[in-house]
Amino acid sequence: MKNLIRLASFLLLSAILFTGCSKGPKITKENFGKLKDGKEVSIFTLVNEKGFKVRITNYGAKIVSIEVPDRNGKLADVTLGYKNAEGYEAGDHYFGSIVGRYANRIAKGKFTLDSVEYKLALNNGSNSLHGGPTGFHSQLWNAEVITKDNYPSLKLTYHSPDMQEGYPGNMDVTVTYTWTADNALKIDYEATSDKNTVCNLTNHVYFNLKGEGNGDILDHQVMINADAITPVDTTLIPTGELRPIKGTPFDFLTATAIGKRIGEKYDQLLTGNGYDHNFVLNTKNDVSVLAASAYEPASGRTVEVYTTEPGIQFYTGNFLKGDQTGKAGKPYNFRNGLCFEAQKFPDSPNHPAFPTAELKKGDKYTQTTIYKFTAK
Ligand code: GLA
Repeated sequence: MKNLIRLASFLLLSAILFTGCSKGPKITKENFGKLKDGKEVSIFTLVNEKGFKVRITNYGAKIVSIEVPDRNGKLADVTLGYKNAEGYEAGDHYFGSIVGRYANRIAKGKFTLDSVEYKLALNNGSNSLHGGPTGFHSQLWNAEVITKDNYPSLKLTYHSPDMQEGYPGNMDVTVTYTWTADNALKIDYEATSDKNTVCNLTNHVYFNLKGEGNGDILDHQVMINADAITPVDTTLIPTGELRPIKGTPFDFLTATAIGKRIGEKYDQLLTGNGYDHNFVLNTKNDVSVLAASAYEPASGRTVEVYTTEPGIQFYTGNFLKGDQTGKAGKPYNFRNGLCFEAQKFPDSPNHPAFPTAELKKGDKYTQTTIYKFTAK
């Protein structure tokens, strides 16, 4: 009898969550297309108490859209992405993806752990980028609809087998997206491994606060709570230096329009063809301290970033070149999106002085990053 009652309440709750006939927060699931191997992909729409929507797919655990109001209440989808699963599988640039096992680059695709040298696929010139060609962004994750603190939430899990893409250890990864009533998308990450390994996860969402496909992001006013960057060589691998940025075009302690200094002949801007750098955060892994923000003056839309991570890759879409068509049919041109990728520093396994990215057997990797949307 008890079990029957439990089952009935569970069914009722699921019906409320799934049918969308209730007011307030809810999640719906729909088909998002098929991968080349025939596997079906789903898309989940998380609706918060105010009725604002975030869509997430289990293909690459990607954020597909975030619709938020401007200062007059006008909605726009502020993230770059494709129309369906087929678009993502054929596409490029890691739009909205969870990236792993190692976000950003590992020099020459090599690192040594416990005296063993591991070799990764080279998918970015002479380096390994974003976990390799079949990294977490290109995997189909399991998805479970849950509610977390009464907010709609999607829990995605993935098992990465030992030596996948050359990384040691069977790794179990969980990424939970929670869409709160105050338009904050919270991303909680967890990972464990049965062997010592390296782990650096991020989300590669691209923002354009004017709305995706509506031009470049050069007018966005950016703040980054950092006093230093990890400068890079011509292959975008950190030199190992922590370079103070006071008085340089990388000083974003005071919010500044991206376009104001991006064209300066500063060595790191020339190397990155714009901003494509890891900023060393002042936030001391404290998720309650503002790490970065972007404000778009015409709409007033703002995104604030909070994270437990020591770094943020600030990337201004310098590799976008108009050959990708977005979900609304508009091309994504040079610098049409910006990323704040919370992370450990790039190539940490080859830089012992950087915060470690080693995940020891039996330990738990955790990360929380929040993207919060407001309009001013
Ligand atoms: C990161 C890198 C960039 C680029 C993009 C993906 O932001 O730092 O150099 O590879 O990912 O296109």
